[in-house]
Amino acid sequence: MKRTIENGIETFEAELDGERIVWDRGLTYADHLQTDPLLSAQVPMSGKHDEMLFIIMHQTMELWIKLQIHECKQAMAQIRADELPQASRTLDRIATIMQHMIHSWEVLATLSPSEFMTFRGYLGKASGFQSHQYRELEFRLGLKRPELITIHMDDPERTAALEEALAAPSLYDEMLYLLDRRGYEIPKEVIGRDLTKPYESDRTIENAWLEIYSNPQEHWELYALAEKVTSLEYYFQEWRFKHMKTVSRVIGHRHGTGGSAGVKYLVKALELRFFPELWSMRTRMEADKPEGGSHGGGHAEGCPV
Ligand code: HEM
Repeated sequence: MKRTIENGIETFEAELDGERIVWDRGLTYADHLQTDPLLSAQVPMSGKHDEMLFIIMHQTMELWIKLQIHECKQAMAQIRADELPQASRTLDRIATIMQHMIHSWEVLATLSPSEFMTFRGYLGKASGFQSHQYRELEFRLGLKRPELITIHMDDPERTAALEEALAAPSLYDEMLYLLDRRGYEIPKEVIGRDLTKPYESDRTIENAWLEIYSNPQEHWELYALAEKVTSLEYYFQEWRFKHMKTVSRVIGHRHGTGGSAGVKYLVKALELRFFPELWSMRTRMEADKPEGGSHGGGHAEGCPV
């Protein structure tokens, strides 16, 4: 190994496995990625073997949620600046992270009920229900449920962060402002509403999306962006579904550590929507009429041809 000083920094060089490897004390892998605090943050309460899987599953998901919030803010800024191709790439990244998180449930599904029961009693009332990042992501996407901040009232910093996210325009709001800028009919009461209140589905907005989807060629940019946003919600719901199925596999119909009815609570959450009119509009889409007025096959309406 060779040691030199380059620009006042201790620098090393070694021939390893036929490669000339270099490193210095200026910035190491551990410094940049903070691996020491990261890898000392797994602190099992029970001393039981399987709790490590439970902790690392939660921690990795929290890291991915952190990145999703970061990217969501970027997508909103890009939409605000009318940079739609850039926003589209950012939305793709968020959706891909979500797909990765969905696949990762398979790792947790290797936890059997008996293995979980070896440490469940040590978890107290701790529950994913208290994940402030998860709630922030819901708010940022468009699902505002102010009452859920209550659970963080003992922590002023978290409460303030969630209140900021609650009062800020969501990704869906940015989409609606965009439609407004592009001349679609968006009611002023929707644009100027109190953003801290839950969003209520609006027929005029459903009509705007219907117009876009009924003629994609004419509205291509908005249509393509709306499909990206729809994919995001589609994968989010799939994440919720996999969570619910994993939970039912591990604890059956027991109550959660956070006090809810457990699986029943998680099933109810499958009905939640970030972008309601982007879903409801689909029911109103009309099928193209067959050329010449009839397709001549004599099929009843609804026949899948
Ligand atoms: C064996 C593993 C798991 C079990 C048994 C479990 C169980 C539950 C239950 C029963 C709830 C409902 C609230 C309660 O009463 O506690 C819940 C909520 C939640 N869990 Fe899990 N969970 C598990 C793994 C995970 C993981 C790995 C994450 C990743 C961060 C997670 C995130 C959440 C979130 C965010 C909620 C709140 C959902 C909402 O309010 O819509 N859970 N979990």
